[in-house]
Amino acid sequence: MRFVSALISPSILSADFANLEAELARIKTADFAHVDVMDAHFVPNLTLGLPVFERLAQVSPIPLDAHLMITAPDRWAPMYAEAGAASVTFHAEATMAPVRLAKEMHRLGARAGLALRPATPIEPYLDHLAEFDMILVMTVEPGFGGQSLISGTIDKIKRVRHAISEANLDVWVQVDGGINRTTIDRVADAGANVFVAGSAVFGADDVPAEIETLRGMANSHMHEGH
Ligand code: DX5
Ligand code: ZN
Repeated sequence: MRFVSALISPSILSADFANLEAELARIKTADFAHVDVMDAHFVPNLTLGLPVFERLAQVSPIPLDAHLMITAPDRWAPMYAEAGAASVTFHAEATMAPVRLAKEMHRLGARAGLALRPATPIEPYLDHLAEFDMILVMTVEPGFGGQSLISGTIDKIKRVRHAISEANLDVWVQVDGGINRTTIDRVADAGANVFVAGSAVFGADDVPAEIETLRGMANSHMHEGH
């Protein structure tokens, strides 16, 4: 078994944007804070950009997991790494040169993640899995919180995990979108080990308890070899 525990990365997309420092403090028992950067071009929504991210990196008690839903990650991703992101995930559909960009993230001291929209296959990237620290299998169409998980993405999680195991690599598999108490067992069973949850965490009455509940449920569904 390559890792001992499920990693929980609450998405601050569902946090109070007028009080982000306090919202980060509420999730300090999580493993990462997931920051959704949207540019109103790659996705039909606009959230926050580099100046806000730089301040979040300065005040966050936990490492930042940047998810760039933007059209020009080759240009912008390095600046998120320089701002202090522990992990920078860019979309396969948007980057011109995913392998080069992953190497650039490593040079700047950040983990590199490759994200796939629900209809984007992993197969074109299988020869390059070793270049990445994480594959993000989007379980909803990116753009908004509070959507329902798309069941057709479960098989892709399995294929990604299978390919990583076959190659004997230590690449994380992240899932993002519609992850909650009802769905986390299915994605953990399928091979995910990093779980993004926005509305499930920030919509809970007791945020730390919800993080623990999700972590416990995921742990009990993760298999050896994940
Ligand atoms: C969607 C974002 C997600 C979103 C998840 O485009 O990438 O991170 O915040 O929200 P929930 O957990 O509510 O589906
Ligand atoms: Zn996200």
